[in-house]
Amino acid sequence: MNKLGFVRDLDNNLSVQNISVNYLVKKYGTPLFIYDSKIIETTYQKINKAIKPVNGKIHYAVKANDNLGLIKFISELGSGADVVSIGELQKCLKVGMDPKKIIFSGVGKDVNEIEYAISKNIKQINIESKEELVDIIDITTKLKKNANIALRVNLDINAQTHKKISTGDENSKFGISFKDVPDIYNIVTNSEYLTPFGLAVHIGSQIFNYKIFAKAYKQLKNLAKNLIENGFPVKYLDLGGGFGVDYKNILINDFKELKKITTNLFINENFDISVEPGRSLVANSGILITKIIRTKLTKKKNFLIVDAGMNNLIRPTLYNAFHEIIPLSLNNDRECEQVDIVGPICETGDFFALNRKIQKMYKNEFLAIMSAGAYGSVMKSNYNTRPDASEVFIYNNKDYLLKKKHSVEKIINSEIIPKI
Ligand SMILES: Cc1ncc(COP(=O)(O)O)c(C=O)c1O
Repeated sequence: MNKLGFVRDLDNNLSVQNISVNYLVKKYGTPLFIYDSKIIETTYQKINKAIKPVNGKIHYAVKANDNLGLIKFISELGSGADVVSIGELQKCLKVGMDPKKIIFSGVGKDVNEIEYAISKNIKQINIESKEELVDIIDITTKLKKNANIALRVNLDINAQTHKKISTGDENSKFGISFKDVPDIYNIVTNSEYLTPFGLAVHIGSQIFNYKIFAKAYKQLKNLAKNLIENGFPVKYLDLGGGFGVDYKNILINDFKELKKITTNLFINENFDISVEPGRSLVANSGILITKIIRTKLTKKKNFLIVDAGMNNLIRPTLYNAFHEIIPLSLNNDRECEQVDIVGPICETGDFFALNRKIQKMYKNEFLAIMSAGAYGSVMKSNYNTRPDASEVFIYNNKDYLLKKKHSVEKIINSEIIPKI
């Protein structure tokens, strides 16, 4: 594990920024998400350094973790945002982010969301279809207000990642086919209230093969140059996110490959480059602490049944994703055993790890599910009428509550029994 972030103290207990995680568990209960500001900041600086030669800008993909406190922290590091809903947009504005640093992406922005974004004068809207463009032309004409438009291009590229997070091939719902780009760019250019800004691409998430990024960026650049040769203005190239995270070794990416690719392609060009990292910025900054409710031994299996479930972290069952899981207190005197670490939800798919080797653990002890900072709490649900988890931020050696978990009463009270 990295020295940075979640480390063992002298007593072999997990700690972060000199705060014992045991202390946080006592203070806030479980399940509990804990985020380390230092990992986010270090990662942010590495991405920033990687795109510095091309003067690139970071737009944090808020969908990875949309907790207000995290957005504010990342915004204060200098980041803009990539949002995909009015809710995410409102969150960014609430923490004081400059609207001129916000990009609105997404395949299903509804008319109200588009109107809202335009009224807030955000930096740009990345459109994903001709049909969306028709809506935007109607809205800007009605409001007599300008909007900056980029086209998210579908380059028909296989991102070689899990199919549920692969967005770059022509069978996916995302983006405008590269073949249609000239025609649609032409419509944007000739629309009274629209400013043609540029092109965007995002081929998927958790991608490790940087040759694929290189291929996509090169195609995007060529497309942009073709448009320019045909007299269209193309200033902004948004390269999206998708940079893979090492969930096994929990190492921070050095983004050297990103630097190499972007420098090679864009150093002597006249484009404004931006990237939209989500996962790679926050995944390793977060852990999910869970308590062992009980152990269960059957003829076939040894289960650790914990108080967090797929309603708190759905990645293992949704994507077959691997998360390192470690005891909060390491005891080298204990034997290792093979266990299934499962939640309390009534689904066989409610697991965090299957056939995993871990030191012998007992009832009421705690586990840390590592790398839970991205696509964790954002995908929470109240399935089985179970509450979500509290979330805590560690900054400057102090702990700050970001979100208190809802009580069961609150969940129940949000529903209405009709008088029929
Ligand atoms: C348009 C866009 N940009 C950026 C991202 C962030 O991707 P990642 O979290 O893999 O960096 C996504 C994720 O779905 C996206 O759709």
